[in-house]
Amino acid sequence: MAYAGNGHIDLLYTAPGLQRSGVATRLYQQAEKQLRGQALFTEASLVAKPFFLRQGFQVAEVQWVERQGVVLQRFLMRKPVL
Ligand SMILES: CC(C)(COP(=O)(O)OP(=O)(O)OC[C@H]1O[C@@H](n2cnc3c(N)ncnc32)[C@H](O)[C@@H]1OP(=O)(O)O)[C@@H](O)C(=O)NCCC(=O)NCCS
Repeated sequence: MAYAGNGHIDLLYTAPGLQRSGVATRLYQQAEKQLRGQALFTEASLVAKPFFLRQGFQVAEVQWVERQGVVLQRFLMRKPVL
């Protein structure tokens, strides 16, 4: 997991064999404590979107980005100040 002091959640990955066992939730909760007082935001993939909805984020914008010639959908998601 990687995040910045401005509230940007940059990266969050759980190894495939460990998914849906609460690993990302525990990592995220630690980050949220560190970032208390900040509005949080991330650019979530389609796969990550349900996770962030579960954490109280809302979709602010649907975005399309090109990565190595492939156009991907992602979601700018925000969670207001705690
Ligand atoms: C998104 C990701 C980090 C979630 O990690 P995780 O450790 O599996 O998440 P958790 O077990 O903490 O999930 C917590 C809750 O989020 C939701 N959730 C997580 N993954 C979900 C999925 N694939 N579909 C639906 N809901 C999901 C569920 O509500 C889940 O609770 P539940 O299992 O009790 O139903 C993981 O799926 C991942 O690494 N995906 C690939 C990489 C990626 O897209 N990263 C984001 C880049 S920013």
